[in-house]
Amino acid sequence: MDDIFIQPEDLRPSVEEPEDGSSLEPDSDTDSDADASIKSTNSYSSRNLQVTMENNRRYADDSYFMPNDESELTRLNIVHQIYLILLDGRLTTAPLQMERPRILDIGTGPGDWAIGMSAEHPNAQIIASDIGVFDSGLGHLSLPNVDFQLADAKSQWTYHEPFDLIHIRGLSGAFNNWHAIYTQALAHLKPGGYIEVADADPAGDTVATEEPSHLRTYAAALRAAADETGYPRDLRHLRTDALSEAGFVGVRVQERSIPIGLWPEDPHEKTLGKMALIALLEGLEAYALRTLTRSGRWSLDEAKDLCEKVRGECVSARGLTARVRIVTGRKPVSFAQRRGEVLARAMAKVKVLNEGPDLPKDE
Ligand SMILES: C[S@@+](CC[C@H](N)C(=O)[O-])C[C@H]1O[C@@H](n2cnc3c(N)ncnc32)[C@H](O)[C@@H]1O
Repeated sequence: MDDIFIQPEDLRPSVEEPEDGSSLEPDSDTDSDADASIKSTNSYSSRNLQVTMENNRRYADDSYFMPNDESELTRLNIVHQIYLILLDGRLTTAPLQMERPRILDIGTGPGDWAIGMSAEHPNAQIIASDIGVFDSGLGHLSLPNVDFQLADAKSQWTYHEPFDLIHIRGLSGAFNNWHAIYTQALAHLKPGGYIEVADADPAGDTVATEEPSHLRTYAAALRAAADETGYPRDLRHLRTDALSEAGFVGVRVQERSIPIGLWPEDPHEKTLGKMALIALLEGLEAYALRTLTRSGRWSLDEAKDLCEKVRGECVSARGLTARVRIVTGRKPVSFAQRRGEVLARAMAKVKVLNEGPDLPKDE
């Protein structure tokens, strides 16, 4: 799948950026309308978006730590391609066998995943939600089976119909209470429906290096600063327990280690390493600037200087790797439903025993 950059001027939201770089209050209207077949009042085109400029980066609001500007869009496009490589071209590890799956992508960002799912499941109803909009992201495409909506997942979810799959990728540090997010997700899934959560936040010690290094200082500083804000930056939300405590069953954790840099001999791994290196370098400041400068212990220059040192180290490091974690869980099927399914299977067996298997009828 190739990256597609589309910037239909007429579909771009009206973005008001203050010339002096000061902060604007984000619009707080985050009601959600679940009917994916109807463009809701939260659809991008119906909203006046406001953004915050800080440290020369553009942010969707005043609280989430990652920017939503062109550099971040590029990084997310690359990360999306890395996930595709890791999953052998698949978009999800969750089984989706139904004819018209209902899918929710929380924190969809530029929308690459949601758009990929819409192509793979043309009959699906997909809601792709986020607190912000990327100017040249795919969220401006008008597709019959995807509804891009503005919604803060920390608020009460108001989707009216349950989903078959809820997807949450790259949201480490976005929530102060993952249990509340998982509880809402469980409530908004059909019985037997899946949640899939994936992350590889370098602040969570996912990037491994043997030497004491600037990279370690960087990760530790980010974690400490994020912990102070109450929005942890690690992979604790991807523990099996985190999902099972919220009521999910059949929780599966898949973890992959990927190379960062040009050091692998194997050509496939080298390509992956190159992509991961570009994504990491592109993300160093994005991950750090707001978090570190707001902690009060790092000036902008100090934070940038640290990023620069990490950059130099990562470019030349051999053996640098990153851990990517993907967790899936299922909403339990109720006893009555399970009994119904067992009965239906038993009846089908009895029918076969009595009448023989259904054979194709002669024309
Ligand atoms: C690192 S990006 C990941 C984007 C996308 N999931 C992907 O994998 O390409 C995180 C996204 O989550 C969004 N986000 C952050 N906090 C959110 C919240 N409370 N509710 C909904 N989306 C949120 C951000 O605006 C951003 O687009």
